[in-house]
Amino acid sequence: MIYLDNAATSFPKPSEVYGEMDEFFRERAANPGRAGYRLSTEAEKGIETTRKALAGLFGAREPQRLVFTLNATDAINMAVKGLLNPGDHVITTTLEHNAVTRPLNSLERQGVITVTRVRPSPQGFLDPGDIKRAITPKTRLVALVHASNVLGTVQPIGDVGRLAREKDLLFLVDAAQSAGLWPVNVEEQCIDLLAFTGHKSLFGPPGTGGLYVGGRVELRPWREGGTGVDSQNPVQPEDMPFRLEGGTPNFVGLAGLKAGVEFVSRTGTDKIRRHGQVLLSQLLHALGDDKRFTLYGPSDTENRSPILSLNIKGMEPQVVGTILDESFGIAVRSGLHCAPGTHREIGSFPQGTVRISPGFFNTGDDIAQVALALKEIASSAAVSSRE
Ligand SMILES: Cc1ncc(COP(=O)(O)O)c(C=O)c1O
Repeated sequence: MIYLDNAATSFPKPSEVYGEMDEFFRERAANPGRAGYRLSTEAEKGIETTRKALAGLFGAREPQRLVFTLNATDAINMAVKGLLNPGDHVITTTLEHNAVTRPLNSLERQGVITVTRVRPSPQGFLDPGDIKRAITPKTRLVALVHASNVLGTVQPIGDVGRLAREKDLLFLVDAAQSAGLWPVNVEEQCIDLLAFTGHKSLFGPPGTGGLYVGGRVELRPWREGGTGVDSQNPVQPEDMPFRLEGGTPNFVGLAGLKAGVEFVSRTGTDKIRRHGQVLLSQLLHALGDDKRFTLYGPSDTENRSPILSLNIKGMEPQVVGTILDESFGIAVRSGLHCAPGTHREIGSFPQGTVRISPGFFNTGDDIAQVALALKEIASSAAVSSRE
């Protein structure tokens, strides 16, 4: 099986991630910080090491302001629902994943907030000037995806962050597709809320993720409960991260995430990204001149994650995905990728596209094989349409 669906989740993980989780779960998996015995204190220290490693990766000066969540979706809900008040206006984009779109749509439909959705260029890039023009006296938040999960296009978050800071707005970045792959620095890029997931380019297991909450933001707790500290307090403690971290954390998953983040830091985001971009470039060259394919997004790999959405003319993307799987042993994802707005922008709604997303453990040979398989499928489609 050739796995080319790393935008959905990275697979396989570095061997250290499996090793760390297995060893931790068998030998040291006491409930962190809930008791005074050594094993529990050690487990707590493990979580704090993960927190510090992530804070270091994202340039966050105060690690305790980075709270752990189930995934990016959980983090975005925590941010949006813990922040916004009746009458607030939010600027977002049509490139967002449903993890951003749905919480905002739901508050908009309840009449709590108003939302402006800025559109990208035909290639899938946003112009910060359009965001500036959408600001109203009621605007409180700009919510923006860093890297599109359909086109791979990377948005100028530093420019948007500085604009938001200048206009005294809060800035939420959905870094689900970019954390571990692109430089993210909450201080330099003026990010107030950074949502990320552990299971994609940070190489952690599913069920891990987090939200960095900058010093200009105070969130209402999304869930309240035990924190292992300040237990006499009838309500959620004020101190971070406990304010937003009620309940037993996924400490086995966080041990794996620590190993994943250490792998990223040791290898370097630049090297990981360049590997993916070389594979993307190979795929673009193999298919770019072939008129039987529609390739979406820019024709080069600059400011682009290793993601290619395409269609074979006259074929449903789901059919192409099934043939790739059943006849060629190649795993890709077909459909709308939880981002219907992006597909509307590029003209592939409602059927979607075939999305090919190589990862760090894919090789040039994997790309050569998927390109060959796609050409064979396209040829058989042309034959059956003539019959
Ligand atoms: C851009 C983007 N945002 C958010 C998410 C949601 O991530 P998760 O399912 O881990 O919460 C995804 C997942 O595919 C994504 O690609």
